[in-house]
Amino acid sequence: MANHILLLILLALTCSFAFASAEPSPLQDFCVADFNSTVRVNGLVCKDPKLAQANDFFFSGARLPGNTTNAVGSKVTPANVAQVPGLNTFGISMVRIDFAPWGINPPHTHPRATEMLTVLQGTLYVGFVTSNPENRLISKTLQAGDMFVFPVGLIHFQYNVGNGTAAVAIAALSSQNPGTIIVANAVFGSNPPIPSDVLTKAFQLDKKVVENLQTIF
Ligand SMILES: *[C@@H]1O[C@H](CO)[C@@H](O)[C@H](O)[C@H]1NC(C)=O
Ligand SMILES: *[C@@H]1O[C@H](CO)[C@@H](O)[C@H](O)[C@H]1NC(C)=O
Ligand SMILES: *[C@@H]1O[C@H](CO)[C@@H](O)[C@H](O)[C@H]1NC(C)=O
Repeated sequence: MANHILLLILLALTCSFAFASAEPSPLQDFCVADFNSTVRVNGLVCKDPKLAQANDFFFSGARLPGNTTNAVGSKVTPANVAQVPGLNTFGISMVRIDFAPWGINPPHTHPRATEMLTVLQGTLYVGFVTSNPENRLISKTLQAGDMFVFPVGLIHFQYNVGNGTAAVAIAALSSQNPGTIIVANAVFGSNPPIPSDVLTKAFQLDKKVVENLQTIF
């Protein structure tokens, strides 16, 4: 009986460690990514720690607003391990998002990260959709200073509803490499394309509409 309890406690501890973070815990102070290495691992190879520089842990690319002159009226400036090599193995990254008046960050998901967004300026209507079968939209209008969570893997979006003014947000993501899948681009803009017959049936659309969407994305 005592053995069983011990086993249960051990199991519980093992599980809580295994699931404590979505990405493995670091085994050293840091592991600045060596982009030149040809070795393929889950993550990126560490460069010699003696060669680490302050700039490996630094990012200035979010000082300036992103260029929002595009079809959706928004620009995401990422600060993940690709831009900040010192993030390697740490399970965290950030983005700056700029919005033109009435701009959107279109429905998308991050396969490897939960996101917590903070509005710095303006007013955003944001939301995410729960998984099947409910597909419930959970949404909120945020003012400057407000924060909102987008759970890992769920489709979410932001819409600048601030009476014709620009908006700015920053967000933290629980992965050094969150990944982004923009729904419209992935479905209608894949390379090579998904057969239009598949999309016509899946979206219950006229084939011409599907083919038109495929030319847009
Ligand atoms: C990677 O290669 C570039 C160009 O050869 C070099 O400047 C840079 O220092 C190298 N980085 C590392 C981490 O070795
Ligand atoms: C912003 O992007 C648009 C479209 O690509 C381009 O025409 C414009 O020159 C860019 N503006 C700046 C300031 O870079
Ligand atoms: C939106 O902005 C315009 C122009 O600045 C102003 O006249 C109007 O009252 C504003 N509307 C709201 C709802 O804030």
